[in-house]
Amino acid sequence: VPETALITLYARGTEAARPDGLLRDPLAARLVATLDFPFRERFGRPDQHPVIRALQFDRIVRAHLAAYPDCTVVALGEGLETQLWRVGNETAAWVSVDLPEMSALRRRLLPGRSRNYLVSSSALDPGWTSHIAVGPPPLIIAQGLLMYFTCAQVGGFLRLLADRCPGARVVFDTIPAWAATNTGHRQNAAYRMPPQPWGTGRRALLRLLGEAGIGSARIMPEEKGRGVIWGHLYPAATRIAPGLLPMTVTFTIPIH
Ligand SMILES: C[S@@+](CC[C@H](N)C(=O)[O-])C[C@H]1O[C@@H](n2cnc3c(N)ncnc32)[C@H](O)[C@@H]1O
Repeated sequence: VPETALITLYARGTEAARPDGLLRDPLAARLVATLDFPFRERFGRPDQHPVIRALQFDRIVRAHLAAYPDCTVVALGEGLETQLWRVGNETAAWVSVDLPEMSALRRRLLPGRSRNYLVSSSALDPGWTSHIAVGPPPLIIAQGLLMYFTCAQVGGFLRLLADRCPGARVVFDTIPAWAATNTGHRQNAAYRMPPQPWGTGRRALLRLLGEAGIGSARIMPEEKGRGVIWGHLYPAATRIAPGLLPMTVTFTIPIH
């Protein structure tokens, strides 16, 4: 699963290197250009979905930091995401949580930055919550993570958030139920994705949130990509049939 962080990095770095790229991210572009890794051979052509998802998450982080510049941002399953350099400020604490092998790679490949704390642990382990500072509402983001959990693990994760992070704003994305797989999608002859067991629609998600004591959630509108598919068809399809495509969801954990 950690290797999937290279797929999304590849998409963002390739986009950032284009003169007409939607994402300004010189660090991601440099990583993709300099890492000795056969991105193209292994993953095929990069697609725009990770790019428009990153734009969407960036918008949420920017808005939260504008309202609470001294808050804690926790990025769960952060991989080699360089969002901190795109939208971070100098005052918020940024807690990067990932599995040990990916945390080690992140430490090696990305420049150090003050107030960025790397936590080497599973997002399912409650330990990372102790890094949230008392004060402004924290922001907890999980980009491209929850589809790698089982439905029971997602339920446990939501209960963990509800118990340990009252008042936090949370953002994560989902894949639809029809796209979930216990074997992994074949990307090309050389590469099969790892299993993505958890997929959901809008109603099932709201039920799961309700069971964890989280009352309401908002499905974010998609950002527009480039070209006919990502610029027009995909955003239109997400408006017409939101539960049948990936969703980005945001909500605030109630304070009891
Ligand atoms: C598709 S990548 C997404 C990386 C990054 N968020 C992005 O959008 O580029 C999935 C990431 O989730 C991490 N991951 C998988 N299971 C995890 C877990 N239980 N706890 C923390 N991170 C996990 C992987 O190591 C990997 O970095």
